Amino acid sequence: MNLKKDAGYKAAEYVKDGDILGLGTGSTTHYFIEAVGKRIEKEGINVMGIPTSFQSLLLAKQWNIPITSLEEHDIDLAVDGADEVDTNFNLIKGGGAAHTKEKIVDYAAENFYVIVDESKYVDEIGGFPVPVEVIPEASRTVIQTLEDMGANPIIRMAERKDGPVITDNGNFIIDAKFNKIESPEHLEIDLNSIPGVVENGIFSNMVDKVIIGTKDGIKEL
Ligand code: A5P
Repeated sequence: MNLKKDAGYKAAEYVKDGDILGLGTGSTTHYFIEAVGKRIEKEGINVMGIPTSFQSLLLAKQWNIPITSLEEHDIDLAVDGADEVDTNFNLIKGGGAAHTKEKIVDYAAENFYVIVDESKYVDEIGGFPVPVEVIPEASRTVIQTLEDMGANPIIRMAERKDGPVITDNGNFIIDAKFNKIESPEHLEIDLNSIPGVVENGIFSNMVDKVIIGTKDGIKEL
């Protein structure tokens, strides 16, 4: 049983011939990109993808999905994973440090679908720390401000590389754990108003559909 795969393949059924797709990042979106690639191969559908990371760029190339950019096209459908989704469709994203480009692409899309396995669906977001991408020079002052806001902030360290994670945009990630997120909408705005913050991983009120892989089959909300 592969619940991420089930969700990714279900989302690919919504892709229409001629669509410009936003290609999210992560292990769930991996299956969406694979499924779109297979539809191109078998059905000959004509689509183009706008990647949200080097990971999704490389995957799209592997599956022969033609690449375009926001400079050239509007997006019909963006499909992306999430670290948490709540019952009001607020998200925390950025577990893979790709949330800045994901937010640019997902928010620009005509339709934005989120694909998750059932472990990600929660009553309210906040169990997962909020990833905050920062210009490296600002990390100390951003950490101080996050502490003043009641969070417990930690610079994300890399694995199999010494030192911090460096994003696709050349920045650091600070993971900020809040005790409780009262208003995702306000926190999203407040975090982005700290000098040096590039983007945070709260996505509020933007999702059109949530596709959840569960042990009892696909659920669509
Ligand atoms: C990338 O930075 C993230 O926003 C991912 O979309 C999110 O972490 C979900 O990833 P998985 O599908 O790998 O759980």
